[in-house]
Amino acid sequence: MSIAVFASGSGSNFEAIVLHARAEGWLHEVSLLVCDRPQAGALKRAEQLGIKSFVFVPRSYETKAKYEQDVLALLQKHKVEWVVLAGYMRLLGPTLLQPYWGKVINIHPSLLPHFPGKDAIGQALEADASFTGVTVHFVDEGMDTGQVIQQERVEIRAGESRAELTAKIQTVEHRLYPQVVRDVIEGRVSLHQRVKQ
Ligand code: GRF
Repeated sequence: MSIAVFASGSGSNFEAIVLHARAEGWLHEVSLLVCDRPQAGALKRAEQLGIKSFVFVPRSYETKAKYEQDVLALLQKHKVEWVVLAGYMRLLGPTLLQPYWGKVINIHPSLLPHFPGKDAIGQALEADASFTGVTVHFVDEGMDTGQVIQQERVEIRAGESRAELTAKIQTVEHRLYPQVVRDVIEGRVSLHQRVKQ
């Protein structure tokens, strides 16, 4: 059984997870990277780390369901048990979510439910907030709405630049995310049973 990381951007969280998993000898290994942007920095990191990467370009598919069917086939072929979203800039649809319900986690750079969606760091600065943070949560159909697993607060100093705040948040992410991923895959945390309507 293995872990797939999904990323659209630079992939610094992907790299942090792989390095922790290797250093600590996790139960499951990160076996592949799934990426929706051919120019994403995460692909270069995968190459350097010696991890297989697969690019699926959503706009080359007729529908989101067809795109996700191809991704699902790859995950099943590689016996992927856990999906870790790390800067993957799309909502998962039912094609992927149903077979992986309770097995998909995400990291978001705010203390959810505050500042969900795009540019959470910009939203916090715009709101003149005195703190923000990092949230790791299970993924459901919504935008950053799934059950929270762990959160950590990050202070915002008066006049702090976007670059400074981003660096502080990323430092927390690179420590927190690998630790939470490990807790989840090794069974110390799980999604509550969904109540049937
Ligand atoms: C992180 O800030 C994460 O919280 C958000 O997207 C960013 C990804 O950064 N979901 P990276 O690609 O891991 O460097």
